[in-house]
Amino acid sequence: MLENLNAEFAIEGKLQFVEHSSGLIQGLVTSPECTASFFLLGAHVAEFQPSGCEPVLFMSQKAVFEEGKAIRGGIPICFPWFGPAKHDADAPSHGLVRTELWSVTKASAREGSVEVSLQIEADDFLLDYELRFGKDLQATFRIKNQATARRSCDLALHSYFAIGNVDSTQVQGLENHGYLDQLTGEEHLASGEPIQFTEETDRIYHGSCRQVRIVDSKNERTLVVEAQNSQSTVVWNPWVAKSQRMPDFGDLEYPHMCCVETANIRPDGITLDSGSETEVNLCISVE
Ligand code: BG6
Repeated sequence: MLENLNAEFAIEGKLQFVEHSSGLIQGLVTSPECTASFFLLGAHVAEFQPSGCEPVLFMSQKAVFEEGKAIRGGIPICFPWFGPAKHDADAPSHGLVRTELWSVTKASAREGSVEVSLQIEADDFLLDYELRFGKDLQATFRIKNQATARRSCDLALHSYFAIGNVDSTQVQGLENHGYLDQLTGEEHLASGEPIQFTEETDRIYHGSCRQVRIVDSKNERTLVVEAQNSQSTVVWNPWVAKSQRMPDFGDLEYPHMCCVETANIRPDGITLDSGSETEVNLCISVE
């Protein structure tokens, strides 16, 4: 498989497929603009580091790299449901595709970026994930309803961002959005304030937000998350007790990460007529 992948898609000096120490297949991107890596498992972007910058994505030291398991860090894809499945208590959290192997369908290099497309079919949807690794990381996520009936789904690009310290990090851009606090089940009106993390935070912000800024004072940088066609944004930090409950996450890692997830989650989920498609765009950059 590795040989075939490299024969078809490797790009000399820019893209290569290798066997990760876990045995999983990983794509490695090296270019003047950035280094990055992704797994076929879950079409999971694991690392992204623009040249001259520190890593942008957080990856847990305790992450498990195993077929059928979700990877704690990077950008997991939650689809076609977010969180626990409502229809089946035994179905996996955050949907079907983050623990499945995707296929590479295209790879190319152009001035300033390396582009890779991955594809999977899940629950009668065809998913096409186009990644452009350059100075920025750009992703286009296309969803086509292949069923004969109208269908609904959730999507979250569950990005884990690396930050210097959660105490000196502020998330800006969602001040005017109401949100569901997932910890209490209560809906809140817009607070008018940027987000400061002082405890476990697990919120689904409603409405389209074109730009979220993660202002990381300790690292003296701002991570910019731009989205199109995203109708909800999840902000998550597990804090102390939840970190201790997660076997694949270190007890003392929570100060160094926060998730800002580009999402479309019920009641802001996606509904597609039979045969129709839509796309969601994400761009991550460093300022
Ligand atoms: C977040 C959810 O998106 O993902 C949290 O809002 C959840 O509720 C977290 O705990 C991690 O989920 P999982 O399934 O990867 O452990």
